[in-house]
Amino acid sequence: MRKSPLFIWGVQKMTKLLQLEKIAAAYGQSRVLWDIDMDIEEGSATALIGRNGVGKTTLLKTIVGVQKLTSGKMLFRGNDVSMLAAHQRARAGIGYVPQGRHVFPHLSVMENLTVGLAALAGRGAVSHEGIPDYVFDLFPKLTEIRNRKAGLLSGGEQQQLAIGRALAGRPSLLLLDEPTEGIQPSVVKQIERALRRIRVELGVTIIIVEQYLDFAWSFADSYLVMQRGKIIRAGSTHTESAADISHLVNI
Ligand SMILES: Nc1ncnc2c1ncn2[C@@H]1O[C@H](COP(=O)(O)OP(=O)(O)OP(=O)(O)O)[C@@H](O)[C@H]1O
Ligand SMILES: [Mg+2]
Repeated sequence: MRKSPLFIWGVQKMTKLLQLEKIAAAYGQSRVLWDIDMDIEEGSATALIGRNGVGKTTLLKTIVGVQKLTSGKMLFRGNDVSMLAAHQRARAGIGYVPQGRHVFPHLSVMENLTVGLAALAGRGAVSHEGIPDYVFDLFPKLTEIRNRKAGLLSGGEQQQLAIGRALAGRPSLLLLDEPTEGIQPSVVKQIERALRRIRVELGVTIIIVEQYLDFAWSFADSYLVMQRGKIIRAGSTHTESAADISHLVNI
């Protein structure tokens, strides 16, 4: 029997899925990210928190490849992907749910989900399959509204669609930018349940930007706090309490 590569000497070895080394990014002359170091273990859930305008979205965009890094290095599964375009990173298994959702308003739910399949291009056998069943299993509402134009959906429905679209590309790393922003509490609960299942049942590693510390603490294992384009604090949500860092997030 083949031994699992995760087990060496009987001890579970953590595998690094994503590594950032001294990443910087800028909009024109204005530098927004400074010397970002990050190690994300396979299977983990990390909450990225910080006040408005500190660079959380820019950091996710830089990981996804929508924003160019101006210096530093990014490794995904140990391979240097710093120079890869966004579509190549998507194909490598990096999924993205942008802030504000950005579904295509004039396309139907099914058409939006189909767009997510583009990330499968070049990944052999799976590229000919349709939308994976687990998308509808996680978000049953999407089946019901499959033919509706995305622009007509509620914020919560659009968010479920945006997450479903990212999952259609079968990512191993999923980045979510404030998925609970502007969504009613009952739907926030549904999204939280779905994210847990995405992590546990699908084994997807998650980085989530989240303003609500309660949500971040109940969902993630570890947290990173950003301030003025830098990560100023990192720790475990299991051994520290949200109250310890609330002064770094609240105004
Ligand atoms: N396209 C852009 N062009 C120029 N500057 C930008 C652009 N996008 C963001 N910025 C600036 O970069 C900085 C970081 O913005 P970013 O959106 O990454 O912050 P954030 O932490 O995600 O904020 P929020 O909590 O409001 O979503 C801000 O000062 C912002 O004004
Ligand atoms: Mg943002």
